Amino acid sequence: MAFTSSIQVGTPAAQAGPLLAVIASEEALAALPATLASGAGSQLAAAIASGDFKAKKDEAALFYPPGPATRLLLVGVGKAAEVTRQKLRRASAIIAKRARQLGTGSATVALAGGSAGGLTTKECYQVLAEGAAVGSWFFPDMKKPPEDPKPPLESITFLVDAGSEAEARTGHAIGAAIGAGGLVARGIQMLPPNVCTPSYLGRFAAELADRLGHRVTVLDQAAIVAEGMGALLAVAQGSAQEPRFVVLEYPGDAGAPVVLIGKGVTFDTGGISIKPADRMEDMKYDMSGAAAVLGTFEMLGRLRPKVNVIGLIPTVENMPSGTAYRPADVVKSHLGKTIEVVNTDAEGRLILADALSYARRFKPACVLDIATLTGAIGIALGQVAAGVMGEPPPLVQEVLAAGERAGERGWELPLWDEYRELIKSDIADMKNSGGRLGGSITAGWFLKEFVDGFPWVHLDIAATAYTDREDAASVRGPTAMGVRLFAEFVLARVSA
Ligand code: BES
Ligand code: MN
Ligand code: ZN
Repeated sequence: MAFTSSIQVGTPAAQAGPLLAVIASEEALAALPATLASGAGSQLAAAIASGDFKAKKDEAALFYPPGPATRLLLVGVGKAAEVTRQKLRRASAIIAKRARQLGTGSATVALAGGSAGGLTTKECYQVLAEGAAVGSWFFPDMKKPPEDPKPPLESITFLVDAGSEAEARTGHAIGAAIGAGGLVARGIQMLPPNVCTPSYLGRFAAELADRLGHRVTVLDQAAIVAEGMGALLAVAQGSAQEPRFVVLEYPGDAGAPVVLIGKGVTFDTGGISIKPADRMEDMKYDMSGAAAVLGTFEMLGRLRPKVNVIGLIPTVENMPSGTAYRPADVVKSHLGKTIEVVNTDAEGRLILADALSYARRFKPACVLDIATLTGAIGIALGQVAAGVMGEPPPLVQEVLAAGERAGERGWELPLWDEYRELIKSDIADMKNSGGRLGGSITAGWFLKEFVDGFPWVHLDIAATAYTDREDAASVRGPTAMGVRLFAEFVLARVSA
């Protein structure tokens, strides 16, 4: 069963069930015991009086009251005036993750009065729904089943008062759709590369589209050859797995489309310029851009907003072999520009180049590409923000603002002309690597060479698409980076 959440009118005091959770600001804490059933209220009052629980950000305390709920979980969001979308999202994720670990199967969540900061009711229940999905995530692993399996977390119910029900439902529907998109993205990111091949991604996209009523076209090798995608084909030629090129269409209105392009390298060995063995296994995540686009189309199918969106997924496996492309090869791109391959590990930009060129036919309002493109982005920004490059500046700002609202931050890097020098080639229109220095920017410049007149932004998520860190709200593994940002971006462009 998939995870769902819902809105219900009710009060915490009356809640039975395996887990009641309350999210509270520091200021809201004093009044809280009186709103709970008497036994739960006195336990909380004691925790407050002892100073053990202060409702600091991310602070959590679990109680076992005499009833009617079996468990009471308090989660803090810090000072009321400083509550943000991200703090509420995290609080909700902490609850869902805890419920999942406890194996409660379901939970009921209330937001204490005076804990919403300056946020609207709609915003609150959007981000609470998003956070619940984040915290609920688990991957049905491939281990021998345990004797006493814990039930997965199937549902979370948010309690609201009758006066805020309508607005809460509106926000919740948005957040639940975005949350579902994130779960789709993480599920497919997590798959091992012997399962998630380019043809698998193509089938996955087709099934998602059929289920949600999207138009979809999956170009196979022959169609990609006919299309003339020489750069993509060069990367694919070393693998026994055929490439695919996925086109998803959600014509939610008649305006020019937002085109989303996601890098779908299902495994990146580096090719002949082979990567070191250490952590090469992480390169199963090199299709995280593709996963973000698929997650966005899950959201679109559930919400059906009035906005025109196209998704493009170039997908290949980058392998070394007797048929693999070589450093020094010159390939002809879909746009017609030639590329000297100096490093077969700079493969992502090659497949994205052909996708950017393919996007021209849609006369896009703008094109956003998302890719685990360079290790250098982690050196520049750590695991805190995606690298953002593009033009014109207002579009870049629109993307950065969407990321801020989404809790998926970006930070702009400059595409100054000096960086273009670094990808000059003696034999072709450009080479595919500018070396280590400024590596994320020269990759961005390479992509810019294939942007034919439309507004464009590139997102480098190589350091944010997955994490090896674990905390109260998050787990190791895939993050669905980009789904919430894309959702905020396209939903802000909905027509009246
Ligand atoms: N998929 C990698 C980028 C990457 C690195 C993602 C680490 C996640 C973690 C990309 O294809 C790549 O190999 N980039 C090279 C570019 C270089 C050869 C110019 C890199 O970053 O080293
Ligand atoms: Mn690579
Ligand atoms: Zn790669």
